[in-house]
Amino acid sequence: MITITAPAKINLTLRILGKRADGYHALESVMQTVSLVDTLLIQSARELSFHCDTHSLNYANNLVLKAARLLRDETGCNMGARITLEKNIPTRAGLGGGSSDAANTLVGLDKLWGLKLPVSDLAALAARLGSDIPFFLYAPTALISGRGEVVTPLPAPPSYNIVLVKPKTGLPTPQVYAELHAAPLQPMKEGYAPETTAMLAALAQGDSAAIAAQLVNDLQATAFRLLPALAQLRDKMLASGALAACLSGSGSAIFAICPDASTAHQIAKKLHHQGLWTWSGVTL
Ligand code: C5P
Repeated sequence: MITITAPAKINLTLRILGKRADGYHALESVMQTVSLVDTLLIQSARELSFHCDTHSLNYANNLVLKAARLLRDETGCNMGARITLEKNIPTRAGLGGGSSDAANTLVGLDKLWGLKLPVSDLAALAARLGSDIPFFLYAPTALISGRGEVVTPLPAPPSYNIVLVKPKTGLPTPQVYAELHAAPLQPMKEGYAPETTAMLAALAQGDSAAIAAQLVNDLQATAFRLLPALAQLRDKMLASGALAACLSGSGSAIFAICPDASTAHQIAKKLHHQGLWTWSGVTL
């Protein structure tokens, strides 16, 4: 049996550069995994099967099963597996839970089935399943571009303290992108967006306060418009001692960078008492 953890991600930056002719958005995002994880248990079996403690995820087209079928079809492998997912990462949160599960399913099955595919081959399959899935093969820290599938790994800065908060209402990614009404993509200039360059410098400095000062997310204003309670949530986190707080991906989770573990814990506790899903931990 193979046990593999699938971490959540946060977006330290997310710049939308414009809408592409294929309908996707060209983006640049620095992504970072955190110590909130789902767990995949993968056992040899004759057939492919998927079991999840969150019953709403037990459907035939689940991303984990899609990943498993794609790997099997593309390699001509005729083996099966019993895959069990212990779900901790909330869905419709912008935390990449489903994407991480899919990426780590590819990694786990590659091992179980003895395929030994290079990571670049796994990443090409991952990109067919979803834009932000290849990132999880190069985590903990990376810059993603294109529609999200072009991954440039970055050295991970020293670990720092994070709190995650999510209201009951989630946000579907396609809706947030549609409501953005982004302008068509113009011919790209050389180099990265200034906000990306600033974050790369902060990461190299390795100081969480420097990283906190550079958080940006171009989907945040749209998400706050769709779900106005999110802005209040961000303000509460800032008022409770967070260095900075920002929407993760397309939301609806907000993450905050905290000066120490006790501040992160206190914010999580306080907002949990107000009926929200909360978590505190560290970056990987
Ligand atoms: O690639 P993925 O299937 O995860 O994307 C989900 C949806 O998010 C897309 O159908 C699209 O509406 C939106 N999206 C986008 N531009 C991206 C990534 C996602 O518009 N770069």
